[in-house]
Amino acid sequence: MTRFSRIGFILAAAGSAVGLGNIWKFPYVTGEYGGGAFVIVYLLAILFIGLTIFIAEAVIGQNGQSDVSTSFVNLSKSKNKNWKFAGFMVFTGLIILSFYSVVLGWILNYVFTSFSALPTEAKVAGAAFEKLISNDIGSLLVYHTLIAGSVVYIVLKGIKEGIEKINLILMPLLGLILFGLLIYSLTLDSFSQAVSFMFSADWSKINGDALLAALGQAFFTLSLGVGTILTYSASLSENTNFIKTSISVALVDTSIAIIAGLIIFSFLFEAGAPSAAGPGLVFISLPVIFSGWGVLGQVIAFSFFIALIFAGITSAVSMIEPSLRFFIERFNITRAKATLISGTTFYILGIVALLSMSKSFSTELTFFGKNAFDLMDFMTSSVLMPIAAILTSVFLGYFVDKQTIQDKFTQHVPLAVFNIWYFLIRYIVPLAIVVLLLNKVGIIK
Ligand code: PHE
Repeated sequence: MTRFSRIGFILAAAGSAVGLGNIWKFPYVTGEYGGGAFVIVYLLAILFIGLTIFIAEAVIGQNGQSDVSTSFVNLSKSKNKNWKFAGFMVFTGLIILSFYSVVLGWILNYVFTSFSALPTEAKVAGAAFEKLISNDIGSLLVYHTLIAGSVVYIVLKGIKEGIEKINLILMPLLGLILFGLLIYSLTLDSFSQAVSFMFSADWSKINGDALLAALGQAFFTLSLGVGTILTYSASLSENTNFIKTSISVALVDTSIAIIAGLIIFSFLFEAGAPSAAGPGLVFISLPVIFSGWGVLGQVIAFSFFIALIFAGITSAVSMIEPSLRFFIERFNITRAKATLISGTTFYILGIVALLSMSKSFSTELTFFGKNAFDLMDFMTSSVLMPIAAILTSVFLGYFVDKQTIQDKFTQHVPLAVFNIWYFLIRYIVPLAIVVLLLNKVGIIK
């Protein structure tokens, strides 16, 4: 197995973390829950729960040096074989990748149209988006195939030549584009309005749903609960300071979410558009605003959507990698074969997700009142990822020899840091997730 360099790992883990979750989802969820108060809850969720699990996955990976299921077994007290079932989380990543690739396909469409047909009115923009996702099956299939093909092409080349290299190129470019957009939004009068929207707290919209959304967003944005951080950490040399790298990645990820929020809200407020526009926010509201800015607007539109593609591709490759390592180590097959299996699986599931949004197939592809796309989204972020997070924390808190983990920590940080983390992982993390999940299904209010 080839390995990441330290900087390669930080870039790849940050590349995984920074994705559509930061630039597409974070702003619209923040908008829906009223701004500042949600941002505070989100930051707390990142600090106390997200970062704790991030470090947990890093410890398991560093110690196990293998795929998710083998790493769990290796680290458990008396090497209990049942822990191999924790490997289920690699399939969560594949399911997410299925619909993530479809969304990246929509974005590709906006990259292509940013120089030609930006809509000038919200109604027209809404209709264009609606037509794309519900009628244009042919184009969507082409886009999904292009994205899936790129993901497969990159991961086939392996950790060093594929994943590390693409992050080395795309992450700095992404940083540059976002920096440019931030500078531009600083010149707008509405920038200060965006700042006050994001940082002054109105607690009236914070309820159980908002808390769960903040927690779900913290998991999703840090790529937790699908074995990504664990698998990447298994390809990082054993004596790296994983605490420091984890904190760096969480910092980069959080900063980029905040910056994306500031950029997008400045744009929205500049045009007097509403902040609570839901998932269509970047696809409907933004293009209309860009179209009002003439040629400059087209350049900004193109840069913005390309940034989303870059951010998304580096995340997409990290969703398939855990399953590749799992197949390679468990079934002793080549990387090419593993890629074929995982690639075909997510490609086909992606087509199902894509068709389920279309007019022609939505009835056939609706299950339990949700179309396949929404069902995959719901199952992964509201069920499978939280379950994996509970499992990971209970595992480290109760089924692993305490001294072993403590030694790993104290190689790099003072004992007090370990004690705080251990308290969080044993009590706070599992409790917080269970309470929020029960609240979600309505058992506690
Ligand atoms: N963190 C990515 C984002 O914010 C999504 C992701 C989830 C990536 C799970 C890998 C694993 O878009």
